[in-house]
Amino acid sequence: MENKKITALYYSPTHTSAKVCYGVASAINSREFAVNDCEITYEREDDGLIFGSDDLVVVSVPVYCSRVAPVAVERLSKYRGNNTPVIALVVYGNRDYGDALLELCDILKESGFIPIAAAAFIGEHSYSRAEMPTAEGRPDMADIEDASLLGAKCREKLDSCENLADMPELKVKGNMPYFVVNHSAPTAPAVDDALCVQCGLCVDNCPVEAISYRDGSIFCSTDLCTKCCRCVKECPENAMLYVTPYTEILHTKFALRREPEIFI
Ligand SMILES: Cc1cc2nc3c(=O)[nH]c(=O)nc-3n(C[C@H](O)[C@H](O)[C@H](O)COP(=O)(O)O)c2cc1C
Repeated sequence: MENKKITALYYSPTHTSAKVCYGVASAINSREFAVNDCEITYEREDDGLIFGSDDLVVVSVPVYCSRVAPVAVERLSKYRGNNTPVIALVVYGNRDYGDALLELCDILKESGFIPIAAAAFIGEHSYSRAEMPTAEGRPDMADIEDASLLGAKCREKLDSCENLADMPELKVKGNMPYFVVNHSAPTAPAVDDALCVQCGLCVDNCPVEAISYRDGSIFCSTDLCTKCCRCVKECPENAMLYVTPYTEILHTKFALRREPEIFI
């Protein structure tokens, strides 16, 4: 464990997966080793990376419709391990994580990583709104404490393991075949032109470049939008609106606090 280089590899439009990733990654080493940042929320300039057995990668992605967010799947495909230990994390909005954790572990194994631990954490739902919140403010301090404990346990596991290949295969929750997503009609946030000051933050920050200037106004493409709601949550003028019946359904039906599930 001594010489492992730790990388946080995450796709996280509204930052909850990133927080969980760092919660785990920064607790792995008792000493103050810097964690290598590898954010894939945006298309990166590099052509991906190949990690070796001296690396330890913490991968964290959001759950969309009980599966790994599709853009995360696409971006993860550029990264390869070479018998590289990995901690697989999914973050979901207090409803259910379905088959996402199994899917993530399978993707990582296919790419040459060896999952040593996995977990599903809870993050504020992308469709949560101040007046109708779901999992508001999560991951919170208790979640980050759980993430730190997981990081410490992973260190112990690696310290006590002579050879990764001898480790029993990690079992996580999920079904095969995975849940099949029924794609609904494409939608996207609408811009309130009365509030929008055209600062361009949403244009710069959209993970999939779905937002652009058009005819003197800000326009979000329904074809490209993944409904991650980053633009909605970060607009300083509250000019981005994404109205969906799910906001109320989630708020009403999934109010009961769920706790992280850890597989190690
Ligand atoms: C299109 C879409 C689908 C989602 N599907 C689920 C889901 O099936 N179950 C769930 O509990 N949360 C779901 N969520 C909520 C996200 O998993 C949750 O908000 C997560 O914390 C977002 O991660 P991020 O902050 O890293 O972007 C969904 C969010 C979006 C945008």
